Amino acid sequence: MTQSDDVVAAGIRPRRSVLYMPGANARALEKARELSCDSIIFDLEDAVAADAKDLARDQVVAAVSRGGYGYRELVVRVNGLDTPWGADDVQAVAGLPLQGLLFPKVETAAQIDHMLAVVDKAGGDRLPLWFMVETPLGVLDIRDLARRTSRLSCLVMGTSDLVKELRARHTESRLNIAYALQHCALVARACALDILDGVHLDFRNQKSFRAACEQARAMGYDGKTLIHPTQIDPANEVFGYDAEAVGQARAVLAAWEAAQAEGKGVAVLDGKLIENLHAAEAQRTLAFAEALSER
Ligand code: COA
Ligand code: MG
Repeated sequence: MTQSDDVVAAGIRPRRSVLYMPGANARALEKARELSCDSIIFDLEDAVAADAKDLARDQVVAAVSRGGYGYRELVVRVNGLDTPWGADDVQAVAGLPLQGLLFPKVETAAQIDHMLAVVDKAGGDRLPLWFMVETPLGVLDIRDLARRTSRLSCLVMGTSDLVKELRARHTESRLNIAYALQHCALVARACALDILDGVHLDFRNQKSFRAACEQARAMGYDGKTLIHPTQIDPANEVFGYDAEAVGQARAVLAAWEAAQAEGKGVAVLDGKLIENLHAAEAQRTLAFAEALSER
């Protein structure tokens, strides 16, 4: 079985649009129940001021407990365990019906072991973990970090922190962080993990936002983390498959199956060669479309 067969067999969870919601913003917590994002990250970390940490934690616990988020995947970003809030955050949310717990600034194996111990003790021993990759050490060591625990489900690039840590600048081309983005994408694919691009700070600029999405999509990213509702539709578009792409996938698969039935190892569709790998790709596209239609 190839890795893509594995994914198809295991079912796909679309993560095209992953919206951060500041935990202290009651209006945002309410509003997200009707937004068309695939996933929601309730944020207790960067988006919440120090004096609002307790309020944010209480509001997030209440919002998740109340539910009503439908098909949307729910994840909480806790504060690091080396901060005054991290342990209390984990204690408060580990027992909630979440699909993931996102930890910031993951850099060392010891940190991951500690994380697992704290999460398990808080009753979250079945909770998938998500890691933020947002420091030079995190990027460099992600290959080992990603293999430290089988509980890891998704990598999330923290491009704002990374640019700051590098003493770099935010540029529209992102050539300055392209190496880091692609390195982490390679690790994600090698370890069968999903990977999400960082946020686009210039959130009123649809043109540059779409360009950043296209760039990440071309690198293999599964989706983008978002800060504003207007970013959801374009992200869903860029990281999804339109009707034409789904139709093409059906045609590829039909041509492939017909060739197989005739005992041929390759097929030709519209003058183009179809091989095993194209059939696998088409299968994944159809599984993705099916996952969306099942909602
Ligand atoms: N999640 C859910 N709803 C959101 C939202 C979010 N991240 N950001 C904005 N909204 C809602 C607002 O509540 C408002 O709803 P309403 O009109 O129905 O009351 C609507 O979307 C329009 O918001 P708008 O007025 O355009 O935005 P703003 O100027 O108030 O806020 C930001 C802009 C960037 C401050 C805000 O979007 C935000 O806090 N984003 C998240 C930041 C974050 O999470 N950072 C951490 C990760 S990097
Ligand atoms: Mg950060």
